[in-house]
Amino acid sequence: MSVANPKQTIMNPPIPYAGTILGGLQPGEMVLIQGSAPSDSDRSMQAKADIAFMFFFFADEMNAFEILLLLYLMQCYQYLIPMGYRIYALFYSLQVAVNGSHLLEYRHRLELKKVDTLAISGKVQIQAIGFIPSSVSKVTCFFSIKTFAPGFHRQGLSLSLPFKSKLAKGLSPGDSIMVKGQISGSPERFSVNLRISNSEDIALHLNPRFKTGSFIRNSFLSGCWGVEETSLPSFPFSAGQYFEMIILCEAQEFKVAVNGFHQLCYKHRVQDLSCVDVIAIVGDLELKDVKIW
Ligand code: GAL
Repeated sequence: MSVANPKQTIMNPPIPYAGTILGGLQPGEMVLIQGSAPSDSDRSMQAKADIAFMFFFFADEMNAFEILLLLYLMQCYQYLIPMGYRIYALFYSLQVAVNGSHLLEYRHRLELKKVDTLAISGKVQIQAIGFIPSSVSKVTCFFSIKTFAPGFHRQGLSLSLPFKSKLAKGLSPGDSIMVKGQISGSPERFSVNLRISNSEDIALHLNPRFKTGSFIRNSFLSGCWGVEETSLPSFPFSAGQYFEMIILCEAQEFKVAVNGFHQLCYKHRVQDLSCVDVIAIVGDLELKDVKIW
């Protein structure tokens, strides 16, 4: 298993396996399971305790004897990797993808904090299980499809403000950007901008304003601000508080989530996403992390 700093690793566990998840399962945590299965894998299992989530698979359906099973736990929005299984945890749900395609969403029937055991049974060999906290930045690098340009490797990432960094190839549908930060005690505003290099153009300007409790979205194109978009169910930020924002780039629009909850969509005003190649952040916050995948 080539993921750096897992909080817990189990190598070649005997099957059936049932092991305690140290510290329980946390939002944003990833569980990576690597293994292989013969084509006649069965699904016999007797439940002896509450099961938060049970996932059966058949090797012949997966068209592979060597299987990468990933349970990915994060707070919002799925993303794709070239192969494997992924399970994402929203605050109250898991999402499962198989071989890079979303398969299903599953709502938790138990509280996440009560999920303390991982069990695997059936005709399967497991080479490695790893529990990787969300704070381990190399997780993103491990699964990265899209990377930051040279000079923006995680180890050298400077989070001082104003923050500006170039994306290696510009955006494309399916990309996600995560911004983590701590808002100042008496904030006025901050902004997260997706820009076009060598110009003043901003494809997406995300601008929470604390005095008015508004979350402004706009684009700055050919020297002018466009029409602001402001509608929102409620203002998702608070002075002094930590937040995680995820911007998912889709073919027609951006989707933005804050602290695990979907907030808004913003239809693309710049159609050539490949030229949107700079992320810039400024304002009344302390930046904790920026990731793209
Ligand atoms: C302007 C403000 C800009 C930007 C813009 C968005 O009033 O000066 O910084 O936030 O609104 O529409």
